[in-house]
Amino acid sequence: MSFLQRLFSGKTHRIFKWLATDMHSHLLPGIDDGSPDMPTTLHYLTELEALGYQKVITTPHVMRELYPNKPNDIKALAAKVNEEITAAGLKIKLEASAEYMLDDGFDALLENDQLIPIANRYVLVEMSYVAPTLNYENTIFKIQAQGLIPILAHPERYNYLSMNDFERIKSLGCLLQVNLLSLVGYYGKHTQAMGQQLVQNKQASFLGTDLHHSRHLEALKGISSHSKLVRLIENTEWLNAKL
Ligand SMILES: [Fe+2]
Repeated sequence: MSFLQRLFSGKTHRIFKWLATDMHSHLLPGIDDGSPDMPTTLHYLTELEALGYQKVITTPHVMRELYPNKPNDIKALAAKVNEEITAAGLKIKLEASAEYMLDDGFDALLENDQLIPIANRYVLVEMSYVAPTLNYENTIFKIQAQGLIPILAHPERYNYLSMNDFERIKSLGCLLQVNLLSLVGYYGKHTQAMGQQLVQNKQASFLGTDLHHSRHLEALKGISSHSKLVRLIENTEWLNAKL
């Protein structure tokens, strides 16, 4: 690697090193639409470590119909991945949580203590991209009534939500997590504009990779060429590093 390449790659890695912890990804092998197998999982973890992340709290989908993943299965699989991490000599730390769809199975999970919160206190939730979950405000309250803090995953990707809705959701006690790739236009112009506004207005508390596959990984590597964006992210306080 030449001096210039090293200089550039140092810059490339800066933002991920600085965020330290990623708290939204689909890296556990074969249990959702993310990594299909253990070698792929190890490859993604190797790349995330090379980018500068020190810790990954991975969040497989939990959806009643499509991915009814149980806490014990998630934990057992994470333990297997951790064995592989050790065997491969990687330094990155892996923990497991989940990304919970606010569907008609969610209330039962919450009431029966079947959630794996991030850092024992945050619950990452998502809604359909087509329409909001009925009574989602009520669910936000119920999560908090259990002593947990809800985080809405990628609010900028729900086209039916406005900046006013984000304000309202935040005022109800739900934190917001923006996808890094939204900010560089990966999901289209509208999502990019909403994501950038959320960051500029300091309404988002977390940034996540939402890594599912290698196209996401390649796009993540390109983020640092957006120097204005990198500065904006670095001038904002994120809860990632506190996880
Ligand atoms: Fe996700």
